[in-house]
Amino acid sequence: MALRHATLHQMKIFTTLARHLNMTRAAETLHMTPAALSIQIKQLSEAVGAPLHEQIGKRLFLTATGRLVDAACRDVFERLEKLSIEMAGDQGLDRGSLKLSIITTAKYFAPRLLGAFCKQHPGIEISLDVDNRNHILERLKQNLDDLYIMGQVPENLNVIAQPFMENPLVVLAPADHPLTRERDIDPARLADEPFIAREPGSGTRLAAERFFEKQGVRLKVRMTLGSNEAVKQTVAGGLGLAVLSQHTLALDAASGAFAVLDVRGFPLLRQWYAVYPMGKQLSAVTEAFLEYIATEGASSKEDIPTSEPKSKL
Ligand code: PGA
Repeated sequence: MALRHATLHQMKIFTTLARHLNMTRAAETLHMTPAALSIQIKQLSEAVGAPLHEQIGKRLFLTATGRLVDAACRDVFERLEKLSIEMAGDQGLDRGSLKLSIITTAKYFAPRLLGAFCKQHPGIEISLDVDNRNHILERLKQNLDDLYIMGQVPENLNVIAQPFMENPLVVLAPADHPLTRERDIDPARLADEPFIAREPGSGTRLAAERFFEKQGVRLKVRMTLGSNEAVKQTVAGGLGLAVLSQHTLALDAASGAFAVLDVRGFPLLRQWYAVYPMGKQLSAVTEAFLEYIATEGASSKEDIPTSEPKSKL
């Protein structure tokens, strides 16, 4: 028996014949000639290794094997139908999933964007991973997620990057720092101040380093900390200044513990990017989320504190 040679086309023809038990009517239903239909049935019967039907007088009957094959064919079509419904659901917006990996600083706004997106599409299951840049890049290389959010497009990887929101970086000082009373501060003056830096590999740190390098300013890094919150607390404790994304201040607006300094060249204007590997087949959910952040991301900048010089935060 060479059942594996049976084709879906033959199976479809056979189930139609089994339903009508009439060659001419089955052929009409399938828009084919009775001769062509009969060839396909013959080939299927050869693949099965036994006759599938018999003609007794004017009536056509299925043989016992024919009945078994008919039942099996209907099972196959039922399963395929179920699969296509499952796939439609998976690709649709009524259910399906979105797997996001975001860089540390993005946690200050991404959950809010996601929350609003989920309200529009309550059936979608979201998984969110917050990690440092090195881990995010590793995940991106291994194609583990649908989408990545980061502030710096990886230079050596083949990716598509969609900018969707501003990421201004500001110089943060303790609220009682003397520089808070000054305007248009020359970046060179910051060389005398102790700085609290984010960890190597942080996008924030990279951008700040590039800026000061360009200005020919060498910062005195007093401490390196792996989290925005730790940096903020250290600044609030009066141990130094720091460059941080303005997004990290969103929840501290009323605390009065910090001030944003009016340093020439600041805020550094950066962007948040939604990134995915080139060639990735985006699901309908991912496409919808990209569209959503392209419109909503631009408007959410109003939610972060203003870059008003010397504003106390
Ligand atoms: P990070 O993220 O400083 O938390 O690494 C921001 C960025 O990639 O710019």
